Amino acid sequence: MNRGRFLTLEGGEGSGKTTHAHLLRESLERAGIEVIVTREPGGTPRAEDIRSLLVSGEPGRWQPLTEALLHFAARAEHVALSIRPALERGVWVICDRFADSTMAYQGVAMGVGREKVEALAAAMLEDFAPDLTLVLDVPEAEGLAREDRNGGEDRYGQMGPEFHAKVREAFRDIAGREPGRCVLVDSSGSIEEVRDLIWAAVARKFSL
Ligand code: TMP
Repeated sequence: MNRGRFLTLEGGEGSGKTTHAHLLRESLERAGIEVIVTREPGGTPRAEDIRSLLVSGEPGRWQPLTEALLHFAARAEHVALSIRPALERGVWVICDRFADSTMAYQGVAMGVGREKVEALAAAMLEDFAPDLTLVLDVPEAEGLAREDRNGGEDRYGQMGPEFHAKVREAFRDIAGREPGRCVLVDSSGSIEEVRDLIWAAVARKFSL
């Protein structure tokens, strides 16, 4: 059986990743592909436990390096228990955020450093990487205004506009450095426009 494909959606707050993860699932299913949608931090029971430590509380709750390690700890669970087994069964996986988020948020915007996050990713993931990453790009003020957090998950939302401007730049930089894996998608249009841009990129990449 063919291995499934691993697709990630990345971007700042309110960039539409979650909506588009579900719309992309519908499009892939219409093409006859079996697909699951999952998210980070989270995606397994223990990784969701770690998520709750990360997304709630005071913005300064963690040392930046601790925070990067917590994201990788959640990711280790998620890759081992959910993502890899699905891909091995031939199921495609759409993941709402993955390691590029740790680079943008902790590596760049929180100042842990690009090299340190690259080293963590290399040690923990080896050569495991998404087949395609869609980086949804929207001006950070627009994204923050779209975001309507509830359930106490607003720790990152409280980090301020300069922080989120750095996150946006970091994602644009990642997309520019890895054009073979990443596609930068202008996410400021309507849901239908963005959905069509995403589908065009996916259909092109996988010849669908
Ligand atoms: P969400 O907004 O996609 O639900 O993700 C929750 C928050 O977690 C989001 O504000 C970004 C943050 N995050 C990181 O800072 N580093 C990471 O590695 C991941 C996966 C998420």
